[in-house]
Amino acid sequence: MAKNNKTSFFCKECGYESSKWLGQCPSCKQWDTFVVGDMSIDSDLGINFSTNEEYTPKALAQIQTNKEDKMTTGFKEFDEVLGGGIIKGSLILLGGSPGIGKSTLLLQLCSNMGKNGKKILYVSGEESLKQIKLRADRIGKFSDNIEFIATNNIQIIKNVLLKNEKYDLLIIDSIQTMSMGHDDSLPGSIKEVRETSQFFFKLSKELEVATFLVGHITKEGLVAGPKILEHMVDTVLYFEDDNIKNLRLIRCKKNRFGSSNALAVFEMGEKGLESVSNPSEIFLQGKPSNASGCTITCILDGNRPILLEIQALVTKTSFGNPRRNVNGSDYNRLNLLIAIIEKRLGLPLYEYDIFVNITGGMRVNEPSLDLPIIVSILSSYKNQATDTESIYCGEVGLSGEVRAIDSINIRINEAMKLGYKKIFIPKANLEKIDKKLLSNYNNIEIKPVTNIIN
Ligand code: TYD
Ligand code: MG
Repeated sequence: MAKNNKTSFFCKECGYESSKWLGQCPSCKQWDTFVVGDMSIDSDLGINFSTNEEYTPKALAQIQTNKEDKMTTGFKEFDEVLGGGIIKGSLILLGGSPGIGKSTLLLQLCSNMGKNGKKILYVSGEESLKQIKLRADRIGKFSDNIEFIATNNIQIIKNVLLKNEKYDLLIIDSIQTMSMGHDDSLPGSIKEVRETSQFFFKLSKELEVATFLVGHITKEGLVAGPKILEHMVDTVLYFEDDNIKNLRLIRCKKNRFGSSNALAVFEMGEKGLESVSNPSEIFLQGKPSNASGCTITCILDGNRPILLEIQALVTKTSFGNPRRNVNGSDYNRLNLLIAIIEKRLGLPLYEYDIFVNITGGMRVNEPSLDLPIIVSILSSYKNQATDTESIYCGEVGLSGEVRAIDSINIRINEAMKLGYKKIFIPKANLEKIDKKLLSNYNNIEIKPVTNIIN
């Protein structure tokens, strides 16, 4: 067994590796997370599936593919996110915070795919078989070609896979509970996650069984475990909340087989997750049309677009000094924006208390928030509700001019996917818009803005 005896330091939170100790992790920015560890991986993982595949180089024309290589999940939108269905032999990471519905979604997928005669093995390292059954009873019917096993031992899983006839799909819930079964194994540790995920990588390729790895997410929104997990798999999906309507979104962060900006929207119901094909209806319903002071904007967290509601309340000051407060963004920036409104629009805001709130408990410091904050303040001041189908994004300069912001196409795409009809953006961003993107949607209006005066 070849072993590379390298001792290095690695971050407990995200698995970042370094040859020396560091106070702060350059990758996840956490302090005091470096520990010394032997990160060497047995190059022989105990897997040796001898396949008849000849290791001779081939030209593309010699490689056979057929339509059946893609399996449908039974959810149209989910298939789209995956690039047309689950590709045979692909390894898919499904990350999400606890309780978001990862196990529920995968169980439903089993139920759907079982009806199409697919053979599936569902491995749970978190729940007992009885618990799985209780949940499955809520969801629907399961045919006998879906088998369940409750274990966290890789060797057992390997034996089951090799002994039985070929499975089409393998589900590992979750990768953090899996263990190599050595004496010193510690499930969930960086080393273990690394080894087990490498095992499943080899397994999915060699046995040609598509595999879902469920991954838990740390509070920073990273899959708990080494980054190598994301590099190794073919597809990285994130399951998350939308912050506004409690919808569940499946977002693709990486996909070797399809577009990476696809999005599937679900709603959690009594019988599990339901696909939402027209999210705008849900976004718009329940919002009173006479609520002034609310606007929706799209911010970016890294490369990930997030829709947020900005609320403002402007009321007459009853004491001498007007009060200003902002929840979730920069206080000084708010004062600056108020000063811009006073000067450029000539409104007597010094007689008013102003409160601004970013809903969903997020903290955002992004210039693109300027325009929606100003629109919310004006809407509350004038007691006029804004249009519920609109999204506002833009930075505002001292003379009231609306300045260009970055990643405009990502924001527009997200807004359109979720069914918004009008998008107010800085005029300077107009030429950067991808025409192809707009052609996918009809009746969408892009409204360029140059200055807050108009
Ligand atoms: P779960 O799928 O176990 O989440 P994860 O695997 O990501 O940790 O949990 C989903 C949540 O949804 C749980 O709080 C219970 C709830 N739920 C429903 O509301 N309806 C349902 O039909 C089911 C099965 C779960
Ligand atoms: Mg679960």
